[in-house]
Amino acid sequence: MAEPDFRAPKGTRDILPAESGRRRALVDVFARRAELAGFGEVVSPMFEDLGVFKRLGEDTDVVTKEMFDFFDKGDPPQHLALRPELTAGICRAYAEHRPVPPWKIWYEGPQFRYEQPQAGRYRQFTQVGVEVLGADDPQADIDVLALGWSFYESLGLGQVRLLLNSLGDPGSRPAYMEALGAYLEARSGDLTDQSRVTLERNPLRVLDSKREGDQTVIADAPLMVDFLSGDAAEHFRVVRSGLDGLGIAYEMSPRLVRGLDYYTRTIFEFAADALPGAQNAVGGGGRYDGLVEDLGGPPTPGLGFALGVDRILLACDAEGVFPGPPPAVLVFVVDVTGGGSALSMCQKLREAGIGADRSYGGRSMKAQMKVADRSGARLAAIIGEDEVAAGEVTIRDLRGDAGQRRVPLDMLVQEVSEFVPGPN
Ligand code: HAM
Repeated sequence: MAEPDFRAPKGTRDILPAESGRRRALVDVFARRAELAGFGEVVSPMFEDLGVFKRLGEDTDVVTKEMFDFFDKGDPPQHLALRPELTAGICRAYAEHRPVPPWKIWYEGPQFRYEQPQAGRYRQFTQVGVEVLGADDPQADIDVLALGWSFYESLGLGQVRLLLNSLGDPGSRPAYMEALGAYLEARSGDLTDQSRVTLERNPLRVLDSKREGDQTVIADAPLMVDFLSGDAAEHFRVVRSGLDGLGIAYEMSPRLVRGLDYYTRTIFEFAADALPGAQNAVGGGGRYDGLVEDLGGPPTPGLGFALGVDRILLACDAEGVFPGPPPAVLVFVVDVTGGGSALSMCQKLREAGIGADRSYGGRSMKAQMKVADRSGARLAAIIGEDEVAAGEVTIRDLRGDAGQRRVPLDMLVQEVSEFVPGPN
């Protein structure tokens, strides 16, 4: 085959049938769970003013290296960026519309980060997520965590771990930052060059380094959980005991930091053990009590999570679960009389809510049966000269052992429904 002139840009993919159907089914499962828990969907723009995303942290990789930013054609031009995540845009929307809190929303859609692509890491990837704005109560944290946890369970995933930490509140931060800064300064000779630069700007970000050379220093660093203020410690205690009460197994992960700077108090990640370490984060989130205010809105506590759809599907493959929905087409019409019968039969079946397809081009019975087989349809409805003369159609079971039967053409819909009770 000749090389095509163009391919999908690096880090992006075409998601073809039937994989696309499986993704939609996964999003549907998430949407249903979120809506059962009182979340409503928000569809927000795929690009925003770059300033919105700067709030993710001026020193984070997402802002410094991974932003797809551009100027529009306005006069003066506006500096915009494709969204690398949705939390900041949702907080911008909250500040703009001032809905009645608590505002519980869910979302789904593509995000864009200029990352080095590898298995499970793309430049365009899809997240599903929820955010709760205007709730300070630790019960909200428990509710949100339980929603994420039960979503993985509902897909059939059994090897997902919940890692939990608290980053403390503004009252806890200064003492910790001082202790951490002093420790890292003292050990800076043992850090990688990149982390020494990061240390100058934000000591907390050093803890997010995945570089081998930094790990021994990180292993002995002071822990945030030892510096929590009374309020932050109590909040965290209630969250943990709530999870215990619901029987959700979590692991305390005192070195967990997130890749974005807006977090306060509870933070968490979902790790899929069926995936290799570098891509095993299938979701993450936490509280961000200052973000709405930072974007010009009223002081508003917030929390939520985003789950990576692409990686979750990889984890499903690795665990052999969530195969996706069966083909929607139940009947493949094989018409060897020129195609006119196929047209009216498909029409009738579809109007009755039964998936039906056919082939084009007046091909032989054998060729059409091959296409029928490839389509995944359960039944073939075969119409030849004989059948036309008798006003009948032959229904053949392509997958099971129900054999075949000739039925009156005007009974097609009813016969198909009886032949295979229930959907596919
Ligand atoms: P995040 O940890 O940056 O958090 O992303 C959440 C999830 O998106 C990751 O756990 C991963 O599954 C997926 N993901 C991230 N980058 C990529 C990539 N390049 N390719 C494939 N999948 C990826 C956030 O985005 C926060 N907005 C989460 C949040 C919501 N916090 C509070 N509310």
